[in-house]
Parts: sequence; C-alpha cells; structure tokens
Amino acid sequence: MSVQSLGLPPRVQDYMLSVSLRETPLLRRLREETSKHPYFEMQIAPEQGQFMALLVELIAARRVLEVGTFTGYSALSMAQSLPSDGQLITCDINQEWTAVARRYWDEAGVGDRIQLRLGPATETLDSLLDSEGPGSFDLAFIDADKENYTAYYERSLKLLRQGGLILIDNVLWSGRVADPSVNTSPTNALRELNQALHQDQRISLSMIPVADGLTLAYKR
Ligand SMILES: C[S@@+](CC[C@H](N)C(=O)[O-])C[C@H]1O[C@@H](n2cnc3c(N)ncnc32)[C@H](O)[C@@H]1O
Repeated sequence: MSVQSLGLPPRVQDYMLSVSLRETPLLRRLREETSKHPYFEMQIAPEQGQFMALLVELIAARRVLEVGTFTGYSALSMAQSLPSDGQLITCDINQEWTAVARRYWDEAGVGDRIQLRLGPATETLDSLLDSEGPGSFDLAFIDADKENYTAYYERSLKLLRQGGLILIDNVLWSGRVADPSVNTSPTNALRELNQALHQDQRISLSMIPVADGLTLAYKR
C-alpha cells in the first residue's frame, strides 16, 4: 500500500494512525482494491487523504482541481469534504484506472460532485483557463507526471483565487531529491520546482514530511 511517512519509525506511524485515522470503510475498500494494482504505490497515504480533506474544510473550498486521478482515492477524500453543491474537477489520461475511481465515487454518493477530464492535463488546465477563467478554484492538488509539475503549478496558480491553496505531492521523492548522485528526470524536475517555490513571492510556503512530502503553497 502507500508509503509510510518518510523517516517515521513504524511503531510511531502505527500509533499515529491508531489514534487519528478516520478512514471510511469505502475508502479502505478502495485502498485494498488498489493494493492489488501493479502501480499501487501511486495512491496517496490515508493520513494524507484525511489531511487534505481537512484543508478543504478549513478553507471552505467549493471548487477543487486535481491533476492525477488514478483510482480516485485523493479525489474521494477531498470530495467528501465539499458542500453538496461543491465541485471537484480531476484530470488523468488513463481510462481503465479512472473507471475504478468512478465506481467508488458513485458508491460514496459524491459522483455528481466529481468531473473527470481525460486527456493531457496541461491541455485540460489551459481549456479550464479559457472556460472557467482565472481565480475560479479554491484548492488544487498536483499528483501526476513529475516532469510537468512546473507547468501544472503555473496553470494552477492562475486558476486559483487569492487565498487559495495548491498542494503538491511527492516533493521529497523518497529522499532522492536530497541525494546529489540521483539525476533522473523526475528527480531533477522536483528539485527545480522545490527550489523555484522557495523563492516564489507569489505564495506563502510550507513543505511537510507527510508520506512522500507535501508542499502547501498559499496564493497571496
Ligand atoms: C500518482 S498517480 C495519482 C494518484 C491519485 N492522486 C491517488 O490518490 O490515488 C498519477 C496519475 O497521473 C496520471 N497522469 C500521468 N501523466 C499525465 C498527464 N500528462 N496528464 C494527466 N494525467 C496524467 C496517471 O495516469 C496516474 O493515474
């Protein structure tokens, strides 16, 4: 299943989950079904899903954007915190994986709040900028191909209202970003984005070591 938070001893991780995780039986079932998938590690950790759902509540988000749906765990976590007239638009390129997602969203009764856009996410975000306009979302979650993260970040920042929040997943990349001998293309892309965000005065910033590292960027 999903990675445990980097550096947290298993005993402490188990304790943390035992006193804080409130995963619904349906989310748990989705996690169990996804654990049989060859790319099961792409799914976010349940405590991260719960954290993001809390952030949706905290900023009273009504419109959420997601880049990277997979089998729908993060979308379902966040959609359950939206008001009944809220909306989550999620982007992916894979029909088969997102069909699993759709089954669970419908079973959870939030299928009408979630719109799936199949196609390369840069194109989807560009078309959203045309159709919905800048400032039309409250929160964005970026969790797809790492080489395009900067493109997703720049477009999401435009799509977000002032006071909106961007969440960026895998920013610690299992620690590889901190190892100078690793120079793969996703590692370098994440390093470049992390460094750029450190200097970016358009946002307030925090990087937290939950799961594989999550950056919070608040649009000033
Ligand atoms: C890490 S997974 C997302 C995990 C998901 N957030 C969850 O909680 O289960 C990344 C997803 O990004 C999708 N993806 C990869 N390249 C993409 C692209 N260019 N445009 C849109 N989606 C893409 C993949 O098909 C995959 O489902």
